[in-house]
Amino acid sequence: MMGRIESLGMIQSACWRELERAAHDRGHEWHHVAVATAHDGGADVRTMALREVNEHDNRLAFFTDSRSPKVAQVLACPQAALLFWSAALGWQLRLKVRLTTVTDGPQVAARWEQLRHTSAAADYLSPVPPGSPLQGLDPQRADRGHFAVIQARVQSIDWLELHPTGHRRAVFDEHGMRWVCP
Ligand SMILES: Cc1cc2nc3c(=O)[nH]c(=O)nc-3n(C[C@H](O)[C@H](O)[C@H](O)COP(=O)(O)O)c2cc1C
Repeated sequence: MMGRIESLGMIQSACWRELERAAHDRGHEWHHVAVATAHDGGADVRTMALREVNEHDNRLAFFTDSRSPKVAQVLACPQAALLFWSAALGWQLRLKVRLTTVTDGPQVAARWEQLRHTSAAADYLSPVPPGSPLQGLDPQRADRGHFAVIQARVQSIDWLELHPTGHRRAVFDEHGMRWVCP
């Protein structure tokens, strides 16, 4: 666990800095995120890899298969929550986000171009959607991908630090930054 940061502004910056590191470092505990969505009066959650972080635009990005059930859920209900925990930092982050799925256009094309010759491309080339029963499937892959980008606009960050000398919690949102009870 690193030394404690005292100012709220520096904590907010450190959160974004760690998120940026996590997007590029598969070993970072925040590289894999729990993404929770709501649908039809119910809720769902799944692990996703954090791919991009842009503090300036207040955005994160994930990659997915455009046919996966979460894409329809996001269209029906864009409000979502992201959950990160790092034992190394002693930090939990809970982000309220608004999700948008982008399936075509220059943003998607540019990212697909970077991915298409890597082993990760196979994740988006299956001829059947994620969640389909496996029995009786033709194993041949489709010749074009179903790659999509899920953009997450961050609305609030709830930061919790667990520490032997006392836990701390702070919220960063449209009302500003403030300490709250852990
Ligand atoms: C370590 C790990 C990383 C994953 N990363 C992604 C990802 O980046 N994008 C994705 O769509 N699914 C990812 N998945 C699979 C999802 O958790 C989920 O099983 C799948 O996307 C179907 O979710 P849905 O039914 O909610 O659409 C990952 C799963 C694990 C265990």
